[in-house]
Amino acid sequence: MIRTNIISFAYKETDDRGDLNNDDRELLESARKAALNAYAPYSGFMVGAALRLESGKIVAGTNVENAAFPSGICAERNAISNASANYPGDKPVALAIAAYSDGDNSAEPVSPCGNCRQVIAEEEFRNGNSIRIILSSKNKIQVIERGSDLLPLQFNKNNLKVNPH
Ligand code: THU
Repeated sequence: MIRTNIISFAYKETDDRGDLNNDDRELLESARKAALNAYAPYSGFMVGAALRLESGKIVAGTNVENAAFPSGICAERNAISNASANYPGDKPVALAIAAYSDGDNSAEPVSPCGNCRQVIAEEEFRNGNSIRIILSSKNKIQVIERGSDLLPLQFNKNNLKVNPH
């Protein structure tokens, strides 16, 4: 018998950043500031990510593009790699993302790309905690409690185990 499974998740949305707690509001402000440092001459799409670590420290990242397009990297992965290299053991607990296109705050919240979702999921898996994701646009903020919510049926370390025959 074929079964139908349904995966759903709830996330929060508001048009008022005053609804965020102080830490998340500060994190979002850091992401907006970081976006201004993006190197995005090819797409003109400037993304900032700000990662809050367990200690309270904020680590920022931007997208850094390259003439060899695939060599470019997203803001989220830059922030995560930076934190992993410079603050080992200090677990990421929240990630805010903001983007500007043609100098204007994006009309819709920018959600991490597939590659970044995979990397966020690995961080959660590696540290055994969830990372709250805060997405933003000019007038909208979305809060997703777990990065893994954005990557259902994810591939992770457990899948690398060889199946016994
Ligand atoms: N980008 C990010 O940095 N993060 C996202 O979540 C979406 C896309 C970057 C990659 C590229 O430099 C530009 O935005 C356009 O795709």
